[in-house]
Amino acid sequence: MKRLLVLAAAAAALFSAQAQTFPGSKPITFVVPFAAGGPTDRVARDLAEAMRKSMGGGANFVVENVNGAGGTIGANKVAKATPDGHTLLLHHIGMASAPSLYRKLQYKPVEDFEYLGMINEVPMTLIGKPQFVANTYRDLENTIRTDAAKLNIAHAGLGSASHLCGLMWQAAVNAKEPMTTIPFGGTAPAMNALVGGQVDMMCDQTTNTTGQIEAGRVKAYAVTTAKPLTSALLKDLPTLQQMGLKNFNLTIWHGLYAPKGTPPAVLAQLNTALKLALKDPDFIKKQEGLGAVVVNDKRVDPAAHKAFVVAEISKLKPVIEAAGKFAD
Ligand code: MLT
Repeated sequence: MKRLLVLAAAAAALFSAQAQTFPGSKPITFVVPFAAGGPTDRVARDLAEAMRKSMGGGANFVVENVNGAGGTIGANKVAKATPDGHTLLLHHIGMASAPSLYRKLQYKPVEDFEYLGMINEVPMTLIGKPQFVANTYRDLENTIRTDAAKLNIAHAGLGSASHLCGLMWQAAVNAKEPMTTIPFGGTAPAMNALVGGQVDMMCDQTTNTTGQIEAGRVKAYAVTTAKPLTSALLKDLPTLQQMGLKNFNLTIWHGLYAPKGTPPAVLAQLNTALKLALKDPDFIKKQEGLGAVVVNDKRVDPAAHKAFVVAEISKLKPVIEAAGKFAD
């Protein structure tokens, strides 16, 4: 018994020593599993600035874009990273969609990560290239119902939010055949192709589409959330439920993760810094200005975060299987 107590005291001292030295001079890397300039990257860069402040300015943050395979390459990199708190994953609903889309996923979304807390929720918008034949959502739906196979939809890889939205929407409108899908390393390059007219349409997060819609560089048709958006620019966009797609309700969420085995004291430090950062007025203003909603303290709790993702994995499985798309 005495030996056990000595061991426990030594471990506590080690962990608290690590916490006292964390983060030290080494930067904290946010791995973003999509290309720079997209919605996930946007959340990461804004959050890095807010966490740098909430950690007293002593911590340096870098954002590393590791894209490909719908975000699974970047997620796997963090799952296999040294668990010292210096390599974190900032990811979205893809954490929950990948297990139903990849039969040979290189990591386990629940077991291979420490959950640091949720960050925000972001609506999605259905948008088209400037020259797209459809002007209203009704036009769009009628076009897809008859000519889906002749049209294409861009996304950020199997399991990405844009891919998931496209799947769910095509299933909901009972498109007779699937649209041609065109994958990119993220929805930033996909947006460039859409604005340039190289692809026909896309479903993407308002953090990436608001500016393009405002500038008139894309056509906007509908939002994916159950409730209409409140922003002056997007409040008149119909929801897909208002357009007759019963129960269609898709919101993209982002969370922060560390590799399994990261010392508890370091996790606690990061979670405290995250909680504080999400209260940063500048971070909240940036997020809300793009239609995102920053989560409250309850959802930054690691146990609540993990329980939410576990529930999302189960919720998305039948949705994805119903849309009948798989990838090895
Ligand atoms: C997605 O479609 O999953 C994201 O928008 C990808 C990205 O952040 O570029």
